[in-house]
Amino acid sequence: MASSMRSLLSDHGRYAESFRRFLNNSTEHQCMQEFMDKQLPGIIARIGGTKSEIKILSLGGGAGEMDLQILSKVKAQYPGAHIINEVVEPNAEQITKYKELVAKTSNLENIKFAWHEETSNEFQNRMMEKKETQKWDFIHMIQMLYYVKDIPATLKFFHGLLATNAKILIILTSGNSGWGKLWGKYGSRLPQNDLCLYVTSSHLTQMLDSLGIKYECYDLLSTMDITDCFTEGNENGNLLWDFLTETCNFTTTAPPDLRAEIMKDLQKPEFSVKKDGKVLFNNNLSFMVIEA
Ligand SMILES: C[S@@+](CC[C@H](N)C(=O)[O-])C[C@H]1O[C@@H](n2cnc3c(N)ncnc32)[C@H](O)[C@@H]1O
Repeated sequence: MASSMRSLLSDHGRYAESFRRFLNNSTEHQCMQEFMDKQLPGIIARIGGTKSEIKILSLGGGAGEMDLQILSKVKAQYPGAHIINEVVEPNAEQITKYKELVAKTSNLENIKFAWHEETSNEFQNRMMEKKETQKWDFIHMIQMLYYVKDIPATLKFFHGLLATNAKILIILTSGNSGWGKLWGKYGSRLPQNDLCLYVTSSHLTQMLDSLGIKYECYDLLSTMDITDCFTEGNENGNLLWDFLTETCNFTTTAPPDLRAEIMKDLQKPEFSVKKDGKVLFNNNLSFMVIEA
């Protein structure tokens, strides 16, 4: 591996931009939106009961788009309740974007926001030091468990913070997606550090089974348009390459043979489909719901 290859997460600005490009070139958030519209109302039907205050904890909330969708469903279900939404997010740029989104969104009255610029592990340590036994009615971890060092310990800790009838929603790339295959084949040749684990829903269900935690799992189809990745020097393609490989400036720092191999694979049917002149990478998502 070229020593100049480094993890994308080490550059907050580039990470935020490459994630933005991923969102613009995929059906990621549309797929989640469909889940929020069709499945979430049933999932949150009992979390609030007759409580006057509903507490939501967002881990890795990013720029808040999906968090606000969740809040709108909770608000619709519990119109009189006061909602507390706390966000644990280590990337300052994402927090700024989240705050901007909140500032320009209407109908958020009755919702109190708080942001903590830290990782879920730092939050966990802080709670343990304070010996806090604060309970939550809904905790979500949307596309963030890849960046957690000890996933079973994290699941166990946050499961222990659930109030009566509370739930955890985890969204992760599906075991049958192109991501699982890409990471399975090339993960060991990409920058290795403890910041990114190449986990999919298949690994997660094994972990939950070992922990004896019950869950329900829903799978939804999604694609990522990677056509620009095959045009040399294309800026959008370069940022998408970074996101695909979790590597900062992949196209300029990766060994040429590695890039050529991945490029060839990405066009194969186990990774992508070709449609209307586009190459659509399999971005299928799994939604896992855990009860208290
Ligand atoms: C792929 S983005 C997902 C953002 C958002 N949940 C969404 O789906 O739009 C992953 C987010 O997790 C955050 N993150 C990275 N490491 C984390 C950690 N250890 N704890 C909490 N969040 C983390 C990143 O900064 C980033 O905003």
